[in-house]
Parts: sequence; structure tokens; C-alpha cells
Amino acid sequence: MIEDYYQTRSGNQVDDIIAVDHLTFSYVEGTPVLHDVSLAVPQGSYVALLGANGSGKSTLARHFNGILLPNAGVVRVDGIDTRDDANMMAVKRRVGMVFQHPDNQIVATTVEDDVAFGLENFNLPPDYIAERVTIALEQTGLLPFRTRPPHLLSGGQKQRLAIAGTLAMDQPILVLDEATSMLDAIGRREVLSLVRQLHNAGTTIIAVTHHMDEVLEADYVIVLHQGSVVMTGTPREVFRHNQRLHEFNLDVPLISQVAGLLHETVPSVPSEATDIEEVVMAVLDGLQPGPDALDDGRDSGHRKAEPCISVCDLAHEYLGGTPLAHMGLVHADVTILEGEALAIVGATGSGKSTVMQHLNGIYRPQSGTVIAVGVDLAQPTADIPKVRREVGMLFQNAEDQLFEQLVGDDVSYGPLQLKLPLKEVRQRVRYGLNMVGLDFETFTDRPIYALSGGEKRRVALAGVLALKPRVLVLDEPTAGLDPASAQDLFQRLHRLRDEGVSVVFVTHNLEEVLDLADRVVIMQNAETQGSYPVEELIRDPDILTQHGFEVPPILALQQRLRQQGYAVHGRTPRAVVASLLQSVTILSAEEPSGGVR
Ligand SMILES: Nc1ncnc2c1ncn2[C@@H]1O[C@H](COP(=O)(O)OP(=O)(O)OP(=O)(O)O)[C@@H](O)[C@H]1O
Ligand SMILES: [Mg+2]
Repeated sequence: MIEDYYQTRSGNQVDDIIAVDHLTFSYVEGTPVLHDVSLAVPQGSYVALLGANGSGKSTLARHFNGILLPNAGVVRVDGIDTRDDANMMAVKRRVGMVFQHPDNQIVATTVEDDVAFGLENFNLPPDYIAERVTIALEQTGLLPFRTRPPHLLSGGQKQRLAIAGTLAMDQPILVLDEATSMLDAIGRREVLSLVRQLHNAGTTIIAVTHHMDEVLEADYVIVLHQGSVVMTGTPREVFRHNQRLHEFNLDVPLISQVAGLLHETVPSVPSEATDIEEVVMAVLDGLQPGPDALDDGRDSGHRKAEPCISVCDLAHEYLGGTPLAHMGLVHADVTILEGEALAIVGATGSGKSTVMQHLNGIYRPQSGTVIAVGVDLAQPTADIPKVRREVGMLFQNAEDQLFEQLVGDDVSYGPLQLKLPLKEVRQRVRYGLNMVGLDFETFTDRPIYALSGGEKRRVALAGVLALKPRVLVLDEPTAGLDPASAQDLFQRLHRLRDEGVSVVFVTHNLEEVLDLADRVVIMQNAETQGSYPVEELIRDPDILTQHGFEVPPILALQQRLRQQGYAVHGRTPRAVVASLLQSVTILSAEEPSGGVR
């Protein structure tokens, strides 16, 4: 029986474990979402699949295990044609899938049953299944949780659980569709290192991601644009084409952006560098340090603004009075000033979302005070509708909370609640969609179910922006957005902040903190640990390390350069390069032999 099972695993040993040949697919007849896609994934490789929101990545990924079947063309998995019904089990046997929202994948009531689920479809002896499950739990570090209900795991643990299912079945191919996009830095690291281990042990990995630094893990990159493959190559080869990537709504890692900008003035710096040390070495060779340069000038720690929301000594207990009572928040002090951008960072479970939900009166303070836009939320008579009007909130996973059938109806829901005239409502919908880069004419009558993940998230955000709030509170606004849309959103948030709107955002991405925030509040173990002007973090990134964060590459690079005597200070690649070039003497303007471009 077990031998039969193993025979279903492989034996074909083809070179290209996935081969896609002239694949065309449409959800709705006449509007193909994948056009004539051909590609090959060599056995044992690690492939990153990139592309803008709606470019067809998830659609393609779902062809790899036969959830979707081609309208034209062929997909072969380990040589097996997915179109033949008789091959269905053989295909599923080979390909494990892990998606963005781990909750949608959990099928059983305990961790071990969940891992066993896939194997149970194959009629195997219970002893054998138990043995495989134990091995898989060991390898994913989940053994201590084997009898726990899966919903009590953290996000990173849930993703590891999904991977454990793959391990138990010994599937040779693992497809991850934005599997890390909902995770905090620690959860992401856990999952990535597990994926790396599997890859080293011979599993073929195909990872859909919007994180350019995750792409550096891969040995091969495939770029999709409007349903066609437009670029392929190693990460280094692909990241060399900065300009083209921009056309496809993609970007290059920040370190490569620094390298590219430096290369314009100092050609000996390799423009395609992806590694900090490579840039530092090139700078040491090509630039001689000079006297101190100026800061990039945005020291916003000294803003003289009034607070628009103050949270003071706040605590919150969940399920109070029940055996499951626990403190979601032990202590929080947060002040949000008029017109500032404030980032809240911290691991999952550190209390960020609990604080956020106090800012517009979803939770009322159990102890401590919250004064939001002049309203004391502890008072039973507090004017909650005023707070809801003026403090707009985008929740985590907001895309799951869209409840209307059509895009336009969902975005207009809030403005209609404000009892605005219909003409104004229509303008607000247009404004909201425009703010998130969705064309009104194209999208307003689209059914929500027919949107890609990133498109749904943008619709949710459009609904909040359509309220034109005085304070915007956003829980991970860019999760699931492609790099260009994320940048575009941040540019719009900059503009709103400059117009006087206060922007509060939770993020796991410190690069976003550097991009927009004036100040950052760090949370740990259900407490706020203090607030820092972002300028201070740039000067002294060790503050981040002390709080258990990894220093983002753009700050680590500056720190390394300062250690070498260079004056450098900036939030963005452009600012970093400008400040560096201000104080140095250029030693070599020569392009190295065999140079780039
Ligand atoms: N069930 C569906 N019915 C109709 N159209 C769909 C359906 N699912 C996706 N689409 C459309 O197909 C196109 C490709 O969607 P897909 O989900 O493959 O994109 P994606 O590259 O994964 O995007 P994202 O980065 O936002 O996840 C998009 O235009 C989307 O609106
Ligand atoms: Mg997708």
C-alpha cells in the first residue's frame, strides 16, 4: 500500500518538473487572463513569480496543481498532463500549495489532524500516517502544539502548519502564493528559513511575492504582465532592468536602487548590486570621505502641533470574567498630533490592533483614557458618530470584509451613511477609487468576487478614503499590494499628511516607516515601549536592534558607511546617495572592465 503510494509520487524524473506550454485561460469567455504562457521550472529550482496586482500570478499558480485547467495549451507536472481527470490525484500528490490567508486553509480541529488530512485521502495505514505527521511536525517546529486547535496558532505558525502538510506527504513541489504577506518580521523569517531548508533538501519552490528582498532568495525569476511572461532570469539579471520593472509595476530592492543611483555618478559602483557589502566595497574604492554633510533636513520631532488623539494609560482585557480572560493590552500611551504620520510597529500579538480599535470608538476604554477628535471615549454619552466620521479606519484583512456585490456600491457605503447628496457620493466614489489607482469607469461595476487579492484591498481602502477623514488609521495598508501600487499609495498618504490629515499606520515593513512616518511607536508584550522620531532611528539604528527588530538594509548600509568615515543620512535611496555625494571626493570615474550596461 505504501509502495503504491510512493509510486504515485514520482518516478518520471523529468528535467522540468513543471512545464507550461502555450497556456491560455479566461474566467469569463472572451477576456483571457493568461495569454499563451510558456515556461519551464527545472526540478529542484527556487522560482519567484512576480507581477502587478491582477497580472495573473494566482491564476497561473492554481494551474500548477490542477485547481484550474487550461482553456488552451498544456500544463505538465512531472510530465503529467493536468487536463486528464485520471491524473488528478497524481498531480495533487506532487504539489503542495500555501496561500496568503492561512485561516482559509485549515481544515481540522487539531494541528496533527490538519497535517494528516492530505495523507488520509490515500488510504494509508494509520501507523504510517502518524509517523509521517510526527516527522513533519518536528521539521516545522510544531511538535509542542500537536494537540492545539490551529486557530490558536500565530500567523507564522499557521503558515508553517500548511507547509507541514506538504512535508507529511513528501510533495516534491511547493507553491507559495504570497504566503508571508500577512506575517510580522519574525513570522516571515520563520517561514522563509523553513522554505530555504526544504529547497536545500531538494523540493522545488515556486513563490509568488511582492517583497523584492524575498526575490533574492530565488535562483530564477519569472515576471508576468497582463497575463504574459515578459521577463525571466536570475534575480541579478532581472533587477538590472530597473526601468522595465517599473513599467510592470515592480521595483528593485532598495540596496540595488542605491547602487543604481550611485552608478550614475560613480560608474565603478556596479548598478546591479544587491548586497550591502558589495556597495560598501565599491564606495571605499571609488569615493574618499570628506567633511560632514548635512542631514536630509526632515527633522519632524519638533513639530508644534496639537494632539488630535491622545491615549493615556490604556489597558484592555479580552473575554473578561471568563476562564479565557487575558490582557490584550497592559499599558498604552500614544499621542497623535494634527497632521503627522505616526507608525506603530511590533510583533503579532503585541497589542497594535487593540490600540487601533480604540481610536475610533470600536472599543471603549476599560481603564485609562482615549480622547479622539475632542471626544472623551470613556464617557457613556460620547459622540461616537462624530468620531467615526472624522477617524477613518482600514482594518487588517479589510478585503475579507467587503460585503456589497459591486465595487461602486462598496465604496459608496460610507459616504451614503454620511447622508451626503447623491452627486457628492458619486464624486466621493470617484475620488476614493482614484486615490487607490483604480479607474472609476473600469471598476465601479465590477463584481467583487472577480477581483484579484490586491484589487480587493484597494477597494476596501477606497471606501475609507471616500469618507475624507481628518485622521486616517490604517492596519497594514500595503499588504498584498504590488510595489508600484504600494509606492503610489504612500505618495498619496504623503500628500494627505501635507494637507493636514493625520495618518496612523501599522506596518511590519520598516522601509515604510522610513518612507512616511514622522514618529514611530514601538509595541512589545501588550505595552507601548516609547515613541521615537524617525530621524533618531536613522542616526541610531541600534534602537531598533534593542527592541528586537532587524535593521532595514537602507539603514544598515548607512551605518556601515558611517563606520568607514562617510557622512551619510537619509530615508530613501535618493536622499542617501545625495547626502553621500555631498561630502566625498570621487576617486575613480572609470567603468570597471567587463562593466555593466
Ligand atoms: N474568480 C474570478 N472571476 C473572474 N475574474 C477573476 C477571478 N479571479 C481573478 N480574476 C481576474 O483575473 C485577473 C488575474 O487575477 P489574479 O488573481 O491571477 O492576479 P494576481 O496576479 O494574483 O494579483 P494579486 O497580486 O492582486 O494577487 C485579474 O484581472 C482579476 O480581476
Ligand atoms: Mg494573487
